[in-house]
Amino acid sequence: MWKYVKRYLPYAVLAALFMIGEVSMDLVQPGIMSRIVDEGVLGLNNGGTGSLSLIWKLGVWMIGLVLFGGLCGSLNNAFVHISSQNIGNAIRKDCFLRIMRFSFPQLDQFGTGSLITRVTNDITQVQTFVSLFVRGMIRTAMLMFGSMYCMFRLNEDFEFIVVCAFPLIVGCLIFCMVKASPLFVRLQAQLDDINEIMQEDVSGIRVIKACVREIYEKARFGKANDELIRTQLRVLVIFAFMNPVVNALMYLVVTVILLVGSFEVGSGKATPGIVMAAITYTTQLLNGILMLTMLFQNISRGLASWKRLKEILRSEPQLMDGSFDGKTDKRGEIEFRDVSFEYPGTGQGVLDHISFTVHPGETLAIMGPTGCGKTSLVNLIPRFYDVTAGAVYVDGVDVREYRQKALREKISVALQKSELFNTTIRENIAWGKPDAELESIRAAAAAAQADDFINASPEGYHTVVAERGMSLSGGQKQRVSIARAIVKQAEILIFDDSTSALDLKTEADFYTALQSISPGSTKIMVAQRIASVRRADRIIVLENGKIAGCGSHGELLKSCRTYQDIYHSQMGEEDEKHECA
Ligand SMILES: Nc1ncnc2c1ncn2[C@@H]1O[C@H](COP(=O)(O)OP(=O)(O)O)[C@@H](O)[C@H]1O
Ligand SMILES: [Mg+2]
Repeated sequence: MWKYVKRYLPYAVLAALFMIGEVSMDLVQPGIMSRIVDEGVLGLNNGGTGSLSLIWKLGVWMIGLVLFGGLCGSLNNAFVHISSQNIGNAIRKDCFLRIMRFSFPQLDQFGTGSLITRVTNDITQVQTFVSLFVRGMIRTAMLMFGSMYCMFRLNEDFEFIVVCAFPLIVGCLIFCMVKASPLFVRLQAQLDDINEIMQEDVSGIRVIKACVREIYEKARFGKANDELIRTQLRVLVIFAFMNPVVNALMYLVVTVILLVGSFEVGSGKATPGIVMAAITYTTQLLNGILMLTMLFQNISRGLASWKRLKEILRSEPQLMDGSFDGKTDKRGEIEFRDVSFEYPGTGQGVLDHISFTVHPGETLAIMGPTGCGKTSLVNLIPRFYDVTAGAVYVDGVDVREYRQKALREKISVALQKSELFNTTIRENIAWGKPDAELESIRAAAAAAQADDFINASPEGYHTVVAERGMSLSGGQKQRVSIARAIVKQAEILIFDDSTSALDLKTEADFYTALQSISPGSTKIMVAQRIASVRRADRIIVLENGKIAGCGSHGELLKSCRTYQDIYHSQMGEEDEKHECA
């Protein structure tokens, strides 16, 4: 954390200096008050004659000091907030950058909900921790040691009373802290649970409604909430008992000081003013101790949050960048050489000894049942994941040797799940090529068969898409994603099940248009329908992560059993559809 504190250290130091000013003023006041009583009112130094002018003089001094202390307090507050907010901001920015650099396996590992909780709630906890640390630590330490010292100078007997009571009070506080500490850790974890449920349920609210799961989800959320409240109540109960006990001890000390004080005033060893000052110092000291407990509560919460943020800040990108800048003679060749793959940490193979080559300009289709590894396979080409064994070559160079940016500039992917952003359709299409002209955006949209529906909407290409594309139908979203992939004009185009929501005619029109808009690029089409893949130059049939067949539609129909089965099951459906129509 020092790295961040260092940047805003001048503000923190200023805050500390002003805090010293504020507490010093608190500490000198009881001394002045005791002089007002002893010398001004009782006239103890003047044979019992008080002095109104001294009361005035010291009164004005006191008001001045209070005002100065208040000013220091305000400035301290301002600088504390400047430093803690800036530190929080810097941490948040760094976390965001780290997350943006995360590779796919790391995103899988953390999970979206947890990442969002960390950059919001945990950073707030750390901010509070920093401001309390700068403000509270100095204040508490100065109040405690300052009032002990001042009291010692006033009267050693009173100091002795306080020193005797000190271990009792501190012991009581430590007992409560020990009881409450594990509860704070649990509190943070339970808050995490609530945030995760909230996150999941709000983003999936449409599914919840569709499946009539409201009552179940309400109960799930209610249960998590109840657990949080139970823990919070336990913390509150501990502190509810602690406060009166500490208060009782405090008043016990005050009473003893008054008792001893009255004897000492009688014997002339102390003055009423000194007794009054001693009582004020005692309350200041105990306030300091109480503040310390509050500090420890927040510090333990802040440290728990900081640990979670460190996990983000310390995580290095798992896929290390190569140094190759992507300049090659070949344009758009892909080779899988004996590739096996499993998702990190799962121990379950997804792809098993896959080898094939796609030549520049060729159209390769990959088909197979859901879960057979099609998405996993195409994700290896832009190196979203690293192979477990073997290698993937793009234009003759292992993808691990490329700089990732250079590799991904060669490749354009329409992911299986179409993600749109909350901006205009135009910007959504030009997402991978922000400087694209409207003409090329239109041409890409036309090829993706999206032109018609975009033009039909009142604001055309300037229509703003709702968050995550909620305002578009599944097929419309897919078409915008396809247009986004086309407009980039990359050497390699990958469409991962991108036409699944399109009807057969629209899909066929798209394939024809794609050939004419990017004739030279290598195309990989992942699909599940025979009708979608039959025109491809070559088709790979995947089954359980293995290649079950490879060839043209005609060749596979003759030689590949799996393909024949799929063909018959699907063509049967088509025939039935025709009959129904
Ligand atoms: N991020 C992931 N982490 C762990 N396992 C995954 C992940 N994505 C997919 N899988 C698993 O890998 C297998 C292949 O998935 P996938 O490649 O998406 O299949 P397909 O695209 O052919 O439907 C499935 O069994 C799936 O459960
Ligand atoms: Mg898939």
